[in-house]
Amino acid sequence: MIDLMTDKVTPNDREKHDEGRQGEAYAPFVQDPNQYQKRFYIESYGCQMNFADSEVVASILNQEGFGATRNLEEADLIFINTCSIREKAEQTVRKRLTEFRKLKLRKKGMLVGVLGCMAERLKSKFIEEERLVDIVVGPDAYRSLPELVAEASGGQKAVNVLLSRDETYADISPVRLDSNGVSAFVSIMRGCNNMCSFCVVPFTRGRERSRDAASILDECRDLFEKGYREVTLLGQNVDSYYFVEESTNRVITFANLMEEVAQLSPLLRVRFSTSHPKDITDEVLHVMARYDNICKYIHLPVQSGSTRVLQLMNRTYTREWYLAKVDRIREIMPDCGISSDIIAGFCTEEEQDHLETLAVMEYSRYDMSYMFFYSERPGTLAQRRYTDDIPLEVKKRRLQEIVDLQGRLSFESNKRDLNKSFTVLIEGDSKKSDQDWMGRSSQNKVIVFPKENYPLQKGDYVNVQVTDCTQATLLGKIIA
Ligand code: SAH
Ligand code: SF4
Ligand code: F3S
Repeated sequence: MIDLMTDKVTPNDREKHDEGRQGEAYAPFVQDPNQYQKRFYIESYGCQMNFADSEVVASILNQEGFGATRNLEEADLIFINTCSIREKAEQTVRKRLTEFRKLKLRKKGMLVGVLGCMAERLKSKFIEEERLVDIVVGPDAYRSLPELVAEASGGQKAVNVLLSRDETYADISPVRLDSNGVSAFVSIMRGCNNMCSFCVVPFTRGRERSRDAASILDECRDLFEKGYREVTLLGQNVDSYYFVEESTNRVITFANLMEEVAQLSPLLRVRFSTSHPKDITDEVLHVMARYDNICKYIHLPVQSGSTRVLQLMNRTYTREWYLAKVDRIREIMPDCGISSDIIAGFCTEEEQDHLETLAVMEYSRYDMSYMFFYSERPGTLAQRRYTDDIPLEVKKRRLQEIVDLQGRLSFESNKRDLNKSFTVLIEGDSKKSDQDWMGRSSQNKVIVFPKENYPLQKGDYVNVQVTDCTQATLLGKIIA
């Protein structure tokens, strides 16, 4: 069940709703105290991009002699990588900063840095508003962290929020912080050129740019060699990936890139996130269909089911166009999982618009959705042009209807999987019992099943037949 007041948004928070990517099976986040004399602590909020960025930050800090710690008390440097997507996300960060303040009063010389989207949005205002903050760094300025830390150590406040047109951190090898050792995120592009009117991301992350394809392939190959079995190619809008290889002048599209990653090994699963419905091409769908190891799962955020509202949102597609895209996906890949993002109560939304959203959900048979009520963000097109005119109770009531419908759709989707069998990539022990494995199907559904006496380990593939299900999870049994 989703708490309507919390901001369970982001791909990372997303994971908290299910069994995956959480729990005890993680490699320790602590780095060898003998190798590093100084220690940093980092906490991340927001989307997977932020979590991937924190791994870049960790790599830069390691170079400077800072090792990661999980223990706030022993940190010389505390970083919080922040999100601005909704007001609630920013409130969470402010609350956390108050806690850091108490710690800082006790520990002399400890520095607090704010990274990410909220740093970019508030810039040096952050330092005026939150006196305890010593360092403010935007998402494109992490390379300057060593100088900023040095500056702040000398007692000055240090700020760099310059956005870049070409920074992709391509050459920095991320330090996997909270990894289960099986699945990893690989950032392939940064920024966003779409101007969805509700969204703050184009302002906090800047212009779109694609990362050198060769460096992406190297990173994926390296992960595979280290035992990883799944990579998720990350970007705000992966389908507009576009890179021209300098030596050959060859144009590499998202479809080309995904195919090359898939060809690294049939044992390496490939996922991606996120697609803007307007940009996902037939070429991408055909490449997906052609490779068993490209997961049959697309996150295709609709936002609203009403053409009129979609237009105000500047999503550039209509309801019909979106539904035709869903049809096309199902035509090319009948077994493909589809999920969505939905915003309830956008400016001017009427009951009829809301009903259209419910109808689109029903038609698309989403396996899962991330659902929010509209939160006006300063500086966005919607904030400048429209009035945030839907009363909070109405937003919440509509959101609750959306959440309820999704609950039913998810359950129905899971029930359709009963008795079917799936190839599951084992991610680790299930949350509830070390007698059970937890893994995912190609369609990104979580499956929990007893280990029995099979000699398996995480990172292995196994065939599992679904025997039972809840709304959130499939339960199964290994097929010998
Ligand atoms: N680039 C991704 C989305 C990133 S933000 C994409 O286009 O799919 C993740 C989700 O947060 C969005 O899809 C949207 O549903 C939601 N969101 C963004 N801005 C919001 C706002 N102002 N209020 C409520 N939800 C918002
Ligand atoms: Fe925001 Fe739209 Fe860009 Fe997604 S595609 S990050 S919703 S502007
Ligand atoms: Fe949040 Fe920035 Fe991601 S606003 S959702 S952390 S791009």
